[in-house]
Amino acid sequence: MNFHLTEEQLMIQQAARDFAQNQCLPGVIERDEKQQFPKEQILQLADLGFMGMMVDPAYGGSGLDTTSYVLAMEEISKVDASTSVCMSVNNSLVCYGLQEFGSEEQKQQYLVPLAQGKKDGQLYIGAFMLSEPEAGSDATSQRTTAEDKGDYYLLNGTKNWITNGGNASVYLVIAQTDPAKGSRGINCLIVEKNWPGVVVAAKENKMGIRASDTHTVMFNDVKVPKQNRIGADGFGFTFAMKTLAGGRIGIAAQALGIASGAYELSKTYSKTRKAFGTEIMNHQIIAFKLADMATRVEAARLLCLKSAWEKDNGIDYTISSSMAKVFSSETAMWASTEAVQIHGGYGYVKEYHVERLMRDAKITQIYEGTSEVQRIVISRGILK
Ligand code: CAA
Repeated sequence: MNFHLTEEQLMIQQAARDFAQNQCLPGVIERDEKQQFPKEQILQLADLGFMGMMVDPAYGGSGLDTTSYVLAMEEISKVDASTSVCMSVNNSLVCYGLQEFGSEEQKQQYLVPLAQGKKDGQLYIGAFMLSEPEAGSDATSQRTTAEDKGDYYLLNGTKNWITNGGNASVYLVIAQTDPAKGSRGINCLIVEKNWPGVVVAAKENKMGIRASDTHTVMFNDVKVPKQNRIGADGFGFTFAMKTLAGGRIGIAAQALGIASGAYELSKTYSKTRKAFGTEIMNHQIIAFKLADMATRVEAARLLCLKSAWEKDNGIDYTISSSMAKVFSSETAMWASTEAVQIHGGYGYVKEYHVERLMRDAKITQIYEGTSEVQRIVISRGILK
């Protein structure tokens, strides 16, 4: 067993740390308040090669391992979880899905620019569309239909809470083709945002990750060429589940970043803030909180890295990614709440950052499978 990071992994970690401090920290409070999409930051991430980190260089990616992706996600999420979720969806739900299961033509047409995060110098990112008004955790209950019309599918329906919904150029849309076949009648279609019948509807006004771009998207008689289906007919649900297993490593790393950001801010604050005649770190009640935060953050980090290692070594990571996600997101919620408590009145105002981390933490327990869904996946896996 080797816990050392390679030179390359350390370099990626440092690059992500510098990016977070220099490009994300300035303006992060304002973007959160104004719900302003971090377009400039995403374009810079594209230049760093962070929008297609694990994609083969032959398809425009950086050819890095999942460990590097976890390290980068943690560093960026310590500062700006709105930016990191855009990065995560593009990397692990969109690029990974296309690289692993897409046809050669789909890779050339879509993966290459998506992995670069740019096309003709303009932002070019993707969104993953599974959730619907009545299909969240119960993901097989898709109401969106992809009617087989011979050489194309006719797509109709509504998708909700779509990250990158307004700014993405390409959507991976999960839809029901044959309801009689249940989960085996579902397909995943590649849809371009500017096609006739695609309507980007309301932008959500969210509690946290407010600068990320979350929309309802509707499809009204959208004609999708057959060659834009990913995999064989009926592969869509398996595609979604397999892709989400990797996505959950990304969100676990995001939650880890929020937790470690909360811990680091609390440690720094405890060394300077005085109460009862001494720095508050000298009060055991604070020191023990910091000890617990450090311990849980480290445990979350190890779970994330273990799952990343399994993915890179061809080992089934379905259970480990769910374990990493449920533990890291619960740690993020707990650690950020403790951070606000340690900061007291200052913690409740925006300029100290921890209130934002606390709001941002909540979504990590919900998206890409709630904590309850992760427990379904883990319990089924360990009991089968
Ligand atoms: N790999 C391959 N196949 C899988 C699989 C996996 N990991 N998990 C399930 N399947 C297969 C099953 O084997 C089954 O196939 P058969 O019918 O051939 O046997 C089929 O898929 C149906 O599976 P289940 O019977 O287990 O389905 P279920 O209805 O009991 O649901 C669930 C299982 C785990 C709860 C699943 O519905 C789920 O993960 N729900 C959560 C959905 C989710 O994560 N949504 C997030 C939205 S995306 C998002 O948030 C992105 C963003 O913008 C940030």
